[in-house]
Amino acid sequence: MATADKEVETTGLVGWIDRRFPMTSTWKKHVSEYYAPKNFNFWYFFGSLALLVLVNQIVTGIFLTMNYKPDATLAFASVEYIMREVPWGWLIRYMHSTGASMFFVVVYLHMFRGLMYGSYRKPRELVWIFGCAIFLCLMAEAFFGYLLPWGQMSFWGAQVIVNLFSAIPFIGPDLSLWIRGDYVVSDVTLNRFFAFHVIAIPLVLIGLVVAHIVALHEVGSNNPDGVEIKGKKDANGIPLDGIPFHPYYSVHDFMGVCVFLFIFAAIIFFAPEMGGYFLEANNFVPANPLQTPPEIAPVWYFTAFYAMLRATTDPFKIVLMVIIALLGVLALLRARGKWRLGLPVLAIAVVVFMALTESKFWGVVVMGTAVVSLFFLPWLDRSPVKSIRYRPTFHKVFYGIFVFAFLVLGYLGTRPPSASATLIAQICALIYFAFFFGMPFWTTRGRFKQPPERVRFKSH
Ligand code: HEM
Repeated sequence: MATADKEVETTGLVGWIDRRFPMTSTWKKHVSEYYAPKNFNFWYFFGSLALLVLVNQIVTGIFLTMNYKPDATLAFASVEYIMREVPWGWLIRYMHSTGASMFFVVVYLHMFRGLMYGSYRKPRELVWIFGCAIFLCLMAEAFFGYLLPWGQMSFWGAQVIVNLFSAIPFIGPDLSLWIRGDYVVSDVTLNRFFAFHVIAIPLVLIGLVVAHIVALHEVGSNNPDGVEIKGKKDANGIPLDGIPFHPYYSVHDFMGVCVFLFIFAAIIFFAPEMGGYFLEANNFVPANPLQTPPEIAPVWYFTAFYAMLRATTDPFKIVLMVIIALLGVLALLRARGKWRLGLPVLAIAVVVFMALTESKFWGVVVMGTAVVSLFFLPWLDRSPVKSIRYRPTFHKVFYGIFVFAFLVLGYLGTRPPSASATLIAQICALIYFAFFFGMPFWTTRGRFKQPPERVRFKSH
């Protein structure tokens, strides 16, 4: 326990604190003696940037709450008051609204990095699972927050999403009534969404972020080569390819923060609405329960999932039923043991249930499954190597198609529905699910390159 001995030896204020609280040892464990692989690249900026945006959201959120009124008759005007009358209120509000979108930009890139380098694989499954739970919380946080300005989009967006729950068989109508607390989205709904947005979800989010980082520091960071640096250590037990997080990566991340803040500030000062993608024009009109806007679309970060929901039409439900039936037949032919009968029976039960229920409900299921599938990634991917660098070319092509399909879905979700757009969205939704559910099969195929013994690193 060399570290503990040293702690007791420290004198002065630090020593006084250390004898009562593990300050120096925590700093060492998580910062100055946390050995991270020396080959981190561009993609490793986004974890610390997500932390930065989280802090931005909390601090600006606290200041917004000082002048915001969670009351259906006052909410819209209170946001206008913040924008026009409160000193620097416009800046705080734009930092918060831009921060919401940038949170998703950063987190999507952060997740994509995990996907590319297999950072979800053993021993980092829990890091990934906490990450997926963070993603779910972020979605809930953004959804609740969007109702608060009480504009047309806030109101009708919430109305549409809460109504989705009414499609759930048996309990649906009661469930959506329970969520709203009223027969329509109203002041009661606004009050509870406010409570969730400012306290409940942020508390859970912060707890999950702490768990995410503690889990990561327990097992150590992955890197672009997917090589475990703990496998090769020096006589002192320090990984040969590891460098202390501080000062090396604190300086490295500081550079990322500077570049990010330039972009962030440019958006806030020159394009806070981002052409309607970050703040929609319709949300500058007060909520009117008697006038439905011609188009109701969620903010860009939800649109890929929203497009899947809209793509689940009656014909698409039939396509899904056929696919599930075929999978049942495949299980009967190929599966062994109890699965041989169990899986086909399950497939028949699902197909019958689908035939009896409306496609709107299956749209909700498709959308939910699209998010929940992420949790299972550590067990779906069975490739012998972690990083994309050492995978066969066709894997890279699959990753590319997957990302392209996701972007197309995201775009289509922002557009009004049309027959051709729905067809494209259906194809992209199938690609999305084929990527995940096909993983146990395609990730083992092809010629893999041998990963190096030690990480590859070129100094600048
Ligand atoms: C508030 C949101 C989040 C914050 C603040 C956050 C923070 C961090 C930080 C600081 C790191 C270490 C630095 C780095 O590797 O970039 C990290 C790593 C990681 N995060 Fe997150 N994260 C968030 C969301 C997510 C989400 C949504 C996922 C996935 C669904 C995720 C998956 C991972 C993984 C797999 C690693 C390990 C990467 C590696 O070692 O290669 N994180 N995160």
